[in-house]
Amino acid sequence: MENAISNPEVKLITSKKPLPFARPDITDEEIQAVERVLRSGWLTSGPEVEKFEKEFAKAVSSKHAVAVNSATAALHLGLETFRIGNRDAVIVPAVTFTATAEVAEYNQTLPLIMDINPDDYLMDPDLVLKFLEEECRFSSGRPVHKKSGRTVKAIMPVHLGGKPCNMDRFQKIARKYNLRMIEDAAHAFPSSYKNKNIGSISDITAFSFYATKNLTTGEGGMLTTNNSRVAEHLRRIRLHGIKGQTYGRKRWNYDVVEKGYKYNMTDTAAALGRVQLKRSAEMLARRKEISEIYREALKEIPGLRLPLSSPHEESYHLFMIEIEKTSKMNRDKFVELMFREGIQTSLHFIPLYRHTFYKKKYSLKRKDYPNSENFFKKILSLPLYSSLSRDNVHSVISSIQKIMK
Ligand SMILES: Cc1ncc(COP(=O)(O)O)c(C=O)c1O
Repeated sequence: MENAISNPEVKLITSKKPLPFARPDITDEEIQAVERVLRSGWLTSGPEVEKFEKEFAKAVSSKHAVAVNSATAALHLGLETFRIGNRDAVIVPAVTFTATAEVAEYNQTLPLIMDINPDDYLMDPDLVLKFLEEECRFSSGRPVHKKSGRTVKAIMPVHLGGKPCNMDRFQKIARKYNLRMIEDAAHAFPSSYKNKNIGSISDITAFSFYATKNLTTGEGGMLTTNNSRVAEHLRRIRLHGIKGQTYGRKRWNYDVVEKGYKYNMTDTAAALGRVQLKRSAEMLARRKEISEIYREALKEIPGLRLPLSSPHEESYHLFMIEIEKTSKMNRDKFVELMFREGIQTSLHFIPLYRHTFYKKKYSLKRKDYPNSENFFKKILSLPLYSSLSRDNVHSVISSIQKIMK
């Protein structure tokens, strides 16, 4: 392999200090909050987690919030709490991060991967309905996938980039077909659908606090639910299935009452999350401002298309653009030229059926996903985060203008 240091081109790029695709927005307040916990003598789940849960539940108008160490863990516990297992299937969109479908694999559940809507790039209620009507039969009031014999138990809509899915339609479908709704809201804090906060609507919503997210705890996640019994169960299975939590326990005695997981959040993470939560409105305002600057500056560049803006309040987690294939330009070339300009971009997401694991295991074919294929070939995401300076935003825009000339 070529030595990167001896390659003059690599030197040139690195000397430019590339603008990262994402960067967490951490102030002295977050650092002091984590330091306070580090000095407190209690590092694992404790008073900070309890406070973070209460504050987060309030922020999304949900009755309960249960903190975990990732959104992947949150989604998995969602399936666990509804006892979705090896005779069942769940509906997921093709355009998402692997975690949405991966958690089904943990339970030997079949992920039924659906094409997306061609206009908003989200899971498409019409396609989900068509699937249930044409590819399922009914047994004891539940849809059974004819090909696999699995009972379809849940829909997992993904609010890609923080743009809410059509929740009215999905709720209607869920009611009609007796399906649970487990929302993948990894990108959707804070978003709302028809003035209802994402996190207050369905059986279960899963949020991510991964390092690139609007609110970060380094790694972390949160489940929200309005159902008290579900919340109590989630609290138990996130920590080994132990009845009662470690923090606040008076004596040595504890009881494992069911199978559980090691998915709890630490107090250091929660302390960081609480400050981020307090700053979330200010950080959202900056993301929105940057998105509007991008929109205005990029709207008339030939060969470049901006996706539709959401009719709902979105979290502005991603700013995606489409590069039309022309004789001079295509998405891959655009990404390469941006990189040479010192600007990192990203792609959300390589559709699930293109990944070796899902493709092989379920014999998936690209031709069955025309909308996702069309999306995948054109799309990329620009840097968008609250710590992006005015100069950074302008250098992204001027690089695009230069490349697309
Ligand atoms: C759509 C989506 N779902 C789930 C996840 C998993 O989140 P986490 O990294 O917190 O497990 C991600 C992570 O980026 C994501 O983008």
